[in-house]
Amino acid sequence: MSVVRRVAGDETSVEREALKRAVIHAFAHLHGLDSSGIGATKSVDDLRRALGRKLDQDGVDPAQVIDELVADVRGGLNHSQSGRFFGWVIGGGLPAAIGADWLTTVWDQNAGLYATSPAAAVVEEVAGAWLRDLFDLPAETSFAFTTGTQMAHVTCLAAARHAVLAKRGWNVELAGLCGAPPIRILANADRHNSVDRAVRMLGLGTSSIEELPVESNGRVASDTLASALSRSDVATIVVLQAGELNRAVFDTFHALAPIARAAGAWVHVDGAFGLWAKACPQTRSLVEGIELCDSWTTDAHKYLNVPYDCGIAFVRDAASHRNAMTVSASYLPADGSARDQIDWNPEFSRRARGFAVYAALRQLGRQGLSDLVARTRHHARALVEGIGALDGAEVVATSSLNQGLVRFLSPMDGAADFDHDRRTDDVIATINRDGEAFFGGVTWRGRRAMRISVSNWRTTDEDVARAIEAVRDALRKV
Ligand SMILES: Cc1ncc(COP(=O)(O)O)c(C=O)c1O
Repeated sequence: MSVVRRVAGDETSVEREALKRAVIHAFAHLHGLDSSGIGATKSVDDLRRALGRKLDQDGVDPAQVIDELVADVRGGLNHSQSGRFFGWVIGGGLPAAIGADWLTTVWDQNAGLYATSPAAAVVEEVAGAWLRDLFDLPAETSFAFTTGTQMAHVTCLAAARHAVLAKRGWNVELAGLCGAPPIRILANADRHNSVDRAVRMLGLGTSSIEELPVESNGRVASDTLASALSRSDVATIVVLQAGELNRAVFDTFHALAPIARAAGAWVHVDGAFGLWAKACPQTRSLVEGIELCDSWTTDAHKYLNVPYDCGIAFVRDAASHRNAMTVSASYLPADGSARDQIDWNPEFSRRARGFAVYAALRQLGRQGLSDLVARTRHHARALVEGIGALDGAEVVATSSLNQGLVRFLSPMDGAADFDHDRRTDDVIATINRDGEAFFGGVTWRGRRAMRISVSNWRTTDEDVARAIEAVRDALRKV
């Protein structure tokens, strides 16, 4: 029976059945994580065949749609919820966050304004203030819950663009960029490319980016920044890093931020996963002085283990943030006493992301969050050391937080980097094909390496031991 419109008395059972099926499939997925392969096994052609059904004229019963969807995607999902998934910084889903996310879908709130969902507006207000406090950011800091760090960069850099041009008497929201004073962006050379994309989206052009070379430790040196700042007096935004994507390197904010601010520059920090180091006493020193910067981005869908998608933008200069984002229209009711998300976010209509963040923070508490960060750091170190100690493996970079690099050496006589690169890729492919663990690859400083990323609350010592064994096995096979 297809359901295309409400039939009195009928819809509850149809709805209940569809949702019940979804819950059953969800539990089966989660309970199967430990025994099933971690990486996707189907090819793109397999998936196109399975999912590329003919769109019928008549609709399909909702429960059947769910059952068939689950059957059709089988083999096409990465089991990134598993404690042995170490590819990219993906995080997992905490039970309270998943539950709240399900309810967010069922409640189907438009979290654009207080008026469109009072509870969604207030939950963001509360969760944003909790996070500002956990990260120890200045009390005046404003925030926005975005799709991810990418749009959090856009939000923060739009505020930065507003502020540095306003200082030069230019209203960018009104006058645009044609004829505007130039802006240059001094950015850590090892930055994530979402920074460049944000710069593009904001009309600043990537040619406005001047790379700040890093030392061998991956950090920008104070005199490098000072000398770059002194070369020009145009409006400047400095982009620093809290957690570089391969080694989780942290810039020395306590040294760099005062230099940049003294030169009148805005300092933005990419803290997609590294900002969470602030929430743990064992890692807090990595981000010393980060509160001296002007804007910060992070992801809740990485370290906080909420389901995708959820990033967060923080801006010290709340007025510039609001000026860059706000919009009003007579049909949009504004309640002066409430926080309307539309004043801070790049989106109009949007998902109520605050519920899952609120639930995750409540489940963990301050101690649980701190333990999560400490645990992932411990597991990342154990993986790097354990894999690095295997015959034919080499540690490329250890990590101060949750990232590390290893590579695999070709046993051939006279093997060169090219051979080591090929063996590294072959070992990664074999591990992922065997399905006991999942890792990603990267070209780092011209050589192939295997990336180890730990950010899932589920990872245990046993997962780490199993993953090291999986690498040992792959080394025997390749
Ligand atoms: C350091 C860093 N910055 C930015 C991003 C982009 O984040 P998102 O994918 O949430 O937009 C990532 C993503 O992996 C990252 O690792």
